[in-house]
Amino acid sequence: MQLLRTLLALAYAVSYTAAAHWCYEIQAKEPNSHCQGPADWTGDCKKTHQSPINIVTTEAKMNPDLKPFTFHGYDQKKKWVVKNDGHSVKMMLGDGSFIAGGDLPAQYQAVQLHLHWSQEFDKGSEHSIDGKHFAMEMHVVHEKATSSNKAQDSQDKNAVLAFMVEVGDEMNQGFQPLVEALSHISTPNTNTTMKESCLQDMLPKKEKLVHYFRYLGSLTTPNCDETVIWTVFKEPIKLHKDQFLKFSKELYYDEDKSLTMKDNVRPLQQLGNRQVFRSHAPGQLLSLPLTALLVPTLTCLVTGLLQ
Ligand SMILES: *[C@@H]1O[C@H](CO)[C@@H](O)[C@H](O)[C@H]1NC(C)=O
Ligand SMILES: [Zn+2]
Repeated sequence: MQLLRTLLALAYAVSYTAAAHWCYEIQAKEPNSHCQGPADWTGDCKKTHQSPINIVTTEAKMNPDLKPFTFHGYDQKKKWVVKNDGHSVKMMLGDGSFIAGGDLPAQYQAVQLHLHWSQEFDKGSEHSIDGKHFAMEMHVVHEKATSSNKAQDSQDKNAVLAFMVEVGDEMNQGFQPLVEALSHISTPNTNTTMKESCLQDMLPKKEKLVHYFRYLGSLTTPNCDETVIWTVFKEPIKLHKDQFLKFSKELYYDEDKSLTMKDNVRPLQQLGNRQVFRSHAPGQLLSLPLTALLVPTLTCLVTGLLQ
């Protein structure tokens, strides 16, 4: 029994050390830090098809197969669990939400959603568009829905939807449940349950989501597996300045609350021999102001009433 306990403790220590080993540049620069910053990340992080990248819009090749996505379950109101995992804030999405279309080879289940941010308006996104970084970037991580295990390491195992976040002076009601949860998960490895909300309300209006960029890359955290079909949407999410600043104010990287969580951003990687594609914008019909008027702002609330 004693031996078993020792072994378990040891196994825990080893896995804990491995998981706690990598960190962002801002943490690596701290005096007495022993963690590995992005330049020292190992595993696939050293390979050549990595993320994030700078997207040069004039070099993105139009691909007519990049049609709009269909979002399933994104309008469901749920009480999501959200946690501070020491690197970001992560909403656990469980089953029930998935995407199709967008030239994806299959349906992809939404697994989790997390963000990257800074305290400044022009450096918190991981991807940049024509050299411009945004205040934040939101990643909705999906996994290929398949019964076989073959997908485990294939380069299309994940589909990540990336949204840039811009700061303005209008409150974003769809983001408020997440923003309000932040003060309950200040330190790593804590979680809380959010007020009821739906994913759709966190995204830009649906008719804007037809414009996006596509390329093949990697996870932006170790081990940087090159398993991701990236979709970077053109239309940014807009948050109020106070909502944006809550992230770097309420969240910490460490239990001692010595370093607030911000600049959790991997530096840009080389595009190399990869091609970035852009979606084919359908007719201008959808951008008519009338259509915008007909689309309710808080779609999941309306859906809720109809049920
Ligand atoms: C949330 O935290 C509790 C208490 O630490 C833990 O038991 C539970 O597994 C956590 N849930 C998630 C989804 O991480
Ligand atoms: Zn991410």
